[in-house]
Amino acid sequence: MKVDVILGLQWGDEGKGKIVDVFTPRYNIIARFQGGPNAGHTIEFQGKKFVLHTIPSGIFHPATQNVIGNGVIIDPLILYRELDELREAGMNPEENLMVSRRAHLILPSHRLLDAALEALKGAAKIGSTLKGIGPAYTDKYGRNGIRVGNILEADFSVRYHQLKESHLGMIKNLGFDTSLCLFDKLSFEAYEEQWLEAVKRMKTLNIIDSEIFINKSLDEGRSVLAEGAQGTMLDVDFGSYPYVTSSNTISAGVCSGLGIAPQRIGNVFGIFKAYCTRVGSGPFPTELHDKDGEKMRRQGNEFGSTTGRPRRCGWLDLPALKYAIMLNGVNKLIMMKADVLNEFPVIKICTNYQLEKTVMDAYPFESGNGNFKMVYRKMKGWKESLAQCSSIQDIPTGLAAYIKFIENSVGLPIDIVSIGPDRLQTLQR
Ligand code: GDP
Ligand code: IMO
Ligand code: MG
Repeated sequence: MKVDVILGLQWGDEGKGKIVDVFTPRYNIIARFQGGPNAGHTIEFQGKKFVLHTIPSGIFHPATQNVIGNGVIIDPLILYRELDELREAGMNPEENLMVSRRAHLILPSHRLLDAALEALKGAAKIGSTLKGIGPAYTDKYGRNGIRVGNILEADFSVRYHQLKESHLGMIKNLGFDTSLCLFDKLSFEAYEEQWLEAVKRMKTLNIIDSEIFINKSLDEGRSVLAEGAQGTMLDVDFGSYPYVTSSNTISAGVCSGLGIAPQRIGNVFGIFKAYCTRVGSGPFPTELHDKDGEKMRRQGNEFGSTTGRPRRCGWLDLPALKYAIMLNGVNKLIMMKADVLNEFPVIKICTNYQLEKTVMDAYPFESGNGNFKMVYRKMKGWKESLAQCSSIQDIPTGLAAYIKFIENSVGLPIDIVSIGPDRLQTLQR
């Protein structure tokens, strides 16, 4: 068996959580391979809504096992808040959740450091979710990190305090006033106390060598779906650096983040919205600063699932989409939130970037330097509700034309069109 992958082709929040949940009945195992609680994956069904940050989106199907892979970074307190919420909803999430021994921990002082480093950047701030992502991955690659497996060892407390003190030293040198820093309305000390409590609880979780479990499962014919977090345009290598996250969000990250070989990757499902959004700072060439942008935000309820921040909105960017398809080896496309464009009389799609007289097909390295003119194709909107569509044959001709234009431009069929947040609002070919 091979590992199929679902990942975002834009700047995150494409709707990965919804589609992973829809696909879960077809898989035995759902595995997160990178990122941490900067992610917010929304799942809606039977009038209920859940937002997951660390737990894979397969958790709502009791027959499926869920793995937090080695490439993920975990804040134990955030993980426990999620587990508690699921338990309050009547579930037993621990029963089908496994955590890699090799996943790194986000310490409370990583979050402090994140806040200090962002404050220091001033106007050039990244717009981080402030969950400690950058500092925790920095410690991983700097070979100072603490891993899940370490919480079971006798010297955990010593290691924790050493690393924490080194962070506090750095923060002091930066001249950052930590007394002003609150995490979810908690002081650092209160957060740390709850965090240490969550670490104790974490010892009872099913902590495994997930790379062995996943490879063995594949050998035995069990199917695995890897769930991406963030999006391709936030990838640390290929996104709009430095306005990116600190992990490889692309399909290559599945190999290192789960411990599987490249030839074991199967289908790569690339998810994109029918338009674009971005939360946080950084280049966004098709961004709308007008009424259309506000309308998209309102219709699409474009407010961050993790931070509540308003998302920046803009038209679909085909050069960026083609770049993302290439980087990931996408062979199946999924288009989300088509319904959000229902009320637009005219819909624009960016087909090219233009620098002076040169029209470019490719997505440029300097996409954010402000020298590019965006070339748009205008299409007539469908101006009708999609609420009654129960199959792809029911969609208005305007939407069918929009889909056809994208398919012809990127050279891949769109297999699924999502027309609402609920599981059932999903049209599959
Ligand atoms: P993720 O991070 O990629 O999982 O996406 P988020 O959950 O952060 O953001 C996607 C948002 O869009 C969530 O609020 C979803 O409930 C919602 N959503 C997903 N698909 C659709 C859709 O087809 N139409 C509409 N209107 N909302 C959708
Ligand atoms: P999901 O999985 C959208 C953005 C932040 C910021 C930048 C760096 O829900 O799609 P970080 O906290 O990683 O230091 O932030 O990346 N970002 C996301 N934007 N969706 C996400 O995840 C994101 N995770 C991080 O807004 O601009
Ligand atoms: Mg999200």
